[in-house]
Order: sequence, then structure tokens, then C-alpha cells
Amino acid sequence: MARRAAHAHGFVILALETSCDETAAAVVTEGGRVLSSVVSSQAALHARFGGVVPEIASRRHLELVAPVVRAALDEAKTSLAAIERVAVTQGPGLVGALLVGISAAKALAWARRLPLVPVDHLEGHVASLYLEPAGVEPPFTCLLASGGHTLLLAVREHGSSERLGTTLDDAAGEAFDKGARLLGLGYPGGAALDRLAQRGDASAFDFPVARVPGVDFSFSGLKTALLYAVRDLEPDELERRRADLAASYQRAIVRALVGRLHEAAEQTGLGRVAVVGGVASNSELRAALPDAAFAPLPLCTDNAAMIASCARFVASVPYPRYGDLDAYASAA
Ligand code: KG4
Ligand code: ZN
Repeated sequence: MARRAAHAHGFVILALETSCDETAAAVVTEGGRVLSSVVSSQAALHARFGGVVPEIASRRHLELVAPVVRAALDEAKTSLAAIERVAVTQGPGLVGALLVGISAAKALAWARRLPLVPVDHLEGHVASLYLEPAGVEPPFTCLLASGGHTLLLAVREHGSSERLGTTLDDAAGEAFDKGARLLGLGYPGGAALDRLAQRGDASAFDFPVARVPGVDFSFSGLKTALLYAVRDLEPDELERRRADLAASYQRAIVRALVGRLHEAAEQTGLGRVAVVGGVASNSELRAALPDAAFAPLPLCTDNAAMIASCARFVASVPYPRYGDLDAYASAA
């Protein structure tokens, strides 16, 4: 019964994502319908270290990957017997963490002699736009802003993109996280900074973002500017002005992202713009780009549904040729 229900939507993909500190599995149909998307975040485990500890991440993925896959199949009301394709994030990310997902995906695919689809994590973020009900279609100019990456991409077809610009130092999400830490908001603090900023005056502090040539970004100077502002305030005044600092800091990041996205769109001539990645959940960024397509909120931060989505458009490796498929750490 469950199997028939899943088959009614075309072939069914099981995807795994373990590139950083989220252990995720999802079941998605060929048509882009998300039957389940399970994300188990390790953020609390890494919080006291102020960042992701690779060895701890790998070990935790190992513990979580089987229960998360089981939960994804259960939530989709299906079983491994109904899956026709297994997809997995191949890179970029932490190699030890990626290898846990890749090994599990190989084992699952191998056991049922299924094809395996290796997916690039960044193309996966872009493919979060192609799922129901939103269903954005190429061509468009895309901003991918996450904890690890800040990229401007020309997307002319499903499954691939052309890189136009990137960050020369910190990623936008990293800038949010570092700012949040300076304001005592914990790790990862992007969402908390977003909430605090809603109570603040964005014009209270002048935080300039470095203008670098082309459509690249630089956020490291901004973090230093916030550090100095925080250092120069007396403790009680700092407490009173934390929301203003958050709002002004967020405004500077959002201005840089929006400005460069418009410039990139002009450069590509692809008028439509879209935003994906963890920072796409930022409320000010969403408000500043009323005409842009945004990934659905639950699919902005790392998840496996976006990996399954991308797997619909890239080549699969037939059984049994994926035995030696390896992870890659950095973007090609
Ligand atoms: O895409 P993602 O889950 O991970 C990477 O692939 O890197 O993005 C996580 C990043 C973190 O830096 C987090 O602080 C940031 O997205 N983030 C936000 C918000 N929600 C998450 N940044 C700003 N405003 C938000 N509301
Ligand atoms: Zn990501």
C-alpha cells in the first residue's frame, strides 16, 4: 500500500546529507514532491566549542545516520524496497563527515542494486528552489549565502551553474555567526541576531562593508568594526544598545548581499533573482528583495530534500560502479 502510494508520483529518491553538522535524510519523488525531510542538528553539541569540531561531527553522523534514514522512510510511509535511487552529498564539506553519508548511501544502494547519485552540496542548495510547491525554473541569477559559502551564480539549467563571484574571506553566515558571538548570542547565532535586530535601530551605527572589485564579497572588516564598537561601549550602555548594534550590523551585510546580487543580475542579463542557503532565512534580506524567489524556510539551512531534488537532474552511477566513489572537501 505504502509502496503504491509512493510510486504514484514517479520514481522515488532517498537522499542523505552529512557535509557539516546536520545529519539529514529525505524521500522525494521524481516530480519534486517532498514525502519526508528529516534533519537532526548537532548544533547544540558543537555550541560550547563556538564552531563545528570535525571529529565530533563524524562520530555523531555515524550514530545518527541509520535512525535518521529510518525516520525519513517512516515519515514518507514507505520502505527501502520502494526506493529507486539513492543520492548523497559528495562535497564540498568536512571529508570525515561526508564519508559517513557516502558509505551509508553506498551500502543502501548496493544492498538493492540501485543507482547512486553523487550530488554537489552547492548545486543542492540551488535545487531547493525546484521542489513543490514553489517550483522556480531556470534561468535566474542566484545568491547562495550559507555558513560556509557566499556565491553569486548564473543558473541557466537544472543541476549546474556558472560561478560569477564569491567571498574573499568570511562567508555571509559566518559574518552573522561571528557578529552574534560578539553580541553574546551563542553559536550558530544568525537566527538569534536576526531576532535581536528586529528591536533595534539599523541607522544607529555606521558599519561599512568593503567594496571589492567585480561581484565578490568581503566581510572580515565588518566583524572588526563591530568588535571595536562593542569594545568602546561601557557594559551597561552595551547592554542597552545590543539591538541597535545587531540591526546596524545586519543592515550592512544585507546591503552588501542585495547590492551585489543586483549587479550580478545586470551582468548575466537574467532578470529573475533567487536566494538560497541558511542566510536566505534572514527576515531583513527577504524584505529587501520582494521580487526574488526564496527557498522555502525549512529548506534554507542544510537538508537532504535539496540533495534529492538536485539528484533528479544529474547523472547517476549505475550499480555496482560506485564502490570507489570518494568525497571532496572544497568546491571545484
Ligand atoms: O546552509 P547552512 O545550513 O549551512 C552551510 O551549508 O553552511 O547555513 C547556516 C548558516 C549559519 O551561519 C546561520 O547562522 C545562518 O545560516 N542563518 C542565518 C539565519 N538563519 C540561519 N543568518 C541570518 N539570519 C537568519 N535568520
Ligand atoms: Zn549548506
